Amino acid sequence: MEIIRKVHSMGEISSQILAARRTIGFVPTMGSLHDGHLALVRRMKQLSDVVVVSIFVNPAQFGPDEDYREYPRQLTRDTDLLIAEGVDYVFSPEPDEIYPEGPATYVEVEDLSTRLEGASRPGHFRGVTTVVMKLLQIVRPTLAAFGQKDAQQAVIVRRMIDNLFLGTELLILPIVRDEDDVALSSRNANLSSGERRSARAIYRGLFAARAAVEAGERDPEAVVRAAREVVEAEEVLRVDYLELVDGELLRPVPAVEGRMLLVAAVYAGSTRLLDNVEISV
Ligand code: PAF
Repeated sequence: MEIIRKVHSMGEISSQILAARRTIGFVPTMGSLHDGHLALVRRMKQLSDVVVVSIFVNPAQFGPDEDYREYPRQLTRDTDLLIAEGVDYVFSPEPDEIYPEGPATYVEVEDLSTRLEGASRPGHFRGVTTVVMKLLQIVRPTLAAFGQKDAQQAVIVRRMIDNLFLGTELLILPIVRDEDDVALSSRNANLSSGERRSARAIYRGLFAARAAVEAGERDPEAVVRAAREVVEAEEVLRVDYLELVDGELLRPVPAVEGRMLLVAAVYAGSTRLLDNVEISV
């Protein structure tokens, strides 16, 4: 496995791979890899000739009061994991490679980027779409994989790829959960053991709401309430948002029908956790 630090080197490698008519499978990450990332890597191994994983903690997607500096960085551990998975290239540039000095260009998907996570974290998705666009331009993957845990990110990246005719095929893989059903996330490492125990209520709440729909509940507010009650029973949890939204446009649904997402952002102490379930009627 090779670790690539420079944009021009990664570009040259991709050109050679594509000229040899081989396919590139790409997994963009911010490192601190867990089994959720590795599930994406394994799928890319099955589906493509060459696998590229990027590890880049993207400053543009962190707000001024967020944890950019404290975000865990474990390049040696991460690269060991990726060697074991048979990854071909890790692209891990410094921030000034991706954001050179001088006037900057940003990519933004309007409307979708200001809802849910975007309302709580202004500018976050502009940072995500900008870096994903840059990475897709550099790596030029045939196929790129993202996780369903960041459901809104997946919807927004899909929209960007479609709107800009990027041609990369997008693969969204299901949430990977730990044995206690908590969705895997790099931020779980920040939880105390008590917070971790309470965090299980997020999953329980979401699935209680889904069970309510399966049992015939058709009032969107009652569905959300069913989840909220379970989550709020835990003292250390604080709901930032919990909404039943349309799976494409991410708008609150007026009726329980079609393909919906029940999405949650919940603070466990000072750690913000995301989770979601799909509900289809
Ligand atoms: O999901 C992530 O880890 C990041 O948002 C991504 C897609 C790697 C962009 O920095």
